Amino acid sequence: MPNVTVIGAQWGDEGKGKIVDWLAAKADAVVRFQGGHNAGHTLVVDGTTYKLSLLPSGIVTGTLSLIGNGVVLDPWALKDEIERLEAQGVSITAQNFGIADNCALILPLHGELDGLREAAAGKGKIGTTKRGIGPAYEDKVGRRAIRVCDLSHLDELEAQLDRLCAHHDALRAGFGEPPVDREALVAQLKDIAPFVRQYAQPVWKRLRDVRADGARILFEGAQGVLLDVDHGTYPFVTSSNTVSGSVAAGSGLGPGAAGFVLGIVKAYTTRVGSGPFPTELEDEIGQRLGERGHEFGTVTARKRRCGWFDAVLVRQSCAISGVHGIALTKLDVLDGFETVKICTGYRLDGQVIDYLPSSAVEQARLEPVYEEMEGWQDSTEGARTWADLPAQAIKYIRRIEELIECPAASVSTSPERDDTILVRNPFAEM
Ligand code: GDP
Ligand code: IMO
Ligand code: MG
Repeated sequence: MPNVTVIGAQWGDEGKGKIVDWLAAKADAVVRFQGGHNAGHTLVVDGTTYKLSLLPSGIVTGTLSLIGNGVVLDPWALKDEIERLEAQGVSITAQNFGIADNCALILPLHGELDGLREAAAGKGKIGTTKRGIGPAYEDKVGRRAIRVCDLSHLDELEAQLDRLCAHHDALRAGFGEPPVDREALVAQLKDIAPFVRQYAQPVWKRLRDVRADGARILFEGAQGVLLDVDHGTYPFVTSSNTVSGSVAAGSGLGPGAAGFVLGIVKAYTTRVGSGPFPTELEDEIGQRLGERGHEFGTVTARKRRCGWFDAVLVRQSCAISGVHGIALTKLDVLDGFETVKICTGYRLDGQVIDYLPSSAVEQARLEPVYEEMEGWQDSTEGARTWADLPAQAIKYIRRIEELIECPAASVSTSPERDDTILVRNPFAEM
């Protein structure tokens, strides 16, 4: 089955949106399988910029775009995003867009709780996007979520609303907040229900049918492996499994569905929010990476922390997510550096280790071991073939491939869709 799964191999913002948009033209369906509107994907097509959070990036090419059950869905954020994209000329209809009817909803109370917790945590905060992602996943696993299918039965949800409100009222009381205004909540849901219902469907069934017709499916991950709730830098992670392994559970297909796993890897490292970051540069080099790479969050406009490429992390992400090939992005941002560094190991309590330990205490103590390489002065911006790249840039890519034990399937050299060097077409590989 020639499917492709795109996942972030670092802490998110690797350029997944650009690559998904680029691959979408070759796909019959694009599916989001985890996360929510904490994601922020920027696409640039012929000079026009599209910013997506919840909609699969395939919507811009008009490819069938589906939101799988693994996503937590804020219906009001969805409406805003659809209206924004329609104003940009993107067509979003019940034919080219669908939402799994078993998706858990993000309610206004989730965003409020996310904000209250972060404010109360002070220095210990996670640095979330405050979109209510964590609280919504908690309610899903706690079996008190309101789901998309419930929007058709809002007058028959007494027991579920009892469970939900009892839980949240206790939490809110702890923050000195009034109980949930249940009537207002139901009224808000009734108001938005028709909008969501027009797209709601059993996505597993839709996927079964398109698959039977031989469709090529592109799975679009959000966040990155280091933000995975199991494999990431816990507790400074998001609340879903971001690894390729969640494709099946998050969309309703068997474990063989993922196909070719394409790990999106930035040519350096960034992270938004709190938590360990061994190669972080708090000097003028970090500043320069941030400026050249325009490293500001799409969702929260926060400045992203920047640092050198960490081969230890990416090797680990590739192994955990079964990555077959990487798409290396933002190579152009490294143009003009006299030298560039790659982290090849960590020093921890006097010993050199070649993996990220699970303990947050140990992660915070890691000191990077670097290898230094000569940089390149010529521009790589907009390069579309290997011949357009300076020899040193090619050496840098080759060294990365060697260290992470995974080949490059493509190299991206600007935000524009077509400024991409194709090495292997992922759809042709399986
Ligand atoms: P995502 O969350 O993984 O989709 O990534 P974001 O869209 O949040 O962040 C990536 C940013 O880098 C966006 O502003 C893209 O337009 C931009 N970008 C993607 N690929 C490249 C590239 O190869 N070079 C440059 N300079 N920018 C890129
Ligand atoms: P894309 O898809 C970068 C980070 C937040 C915070 C942590 C938890 O654009 O790569 P959450 O709101 O999910 O509970 O926040 O995860 N985070 C992201 N960082 N890119 C993202 O998505 C992110 N989504 C969440 O900054 O550190
Ligand atoms: Mg992003």
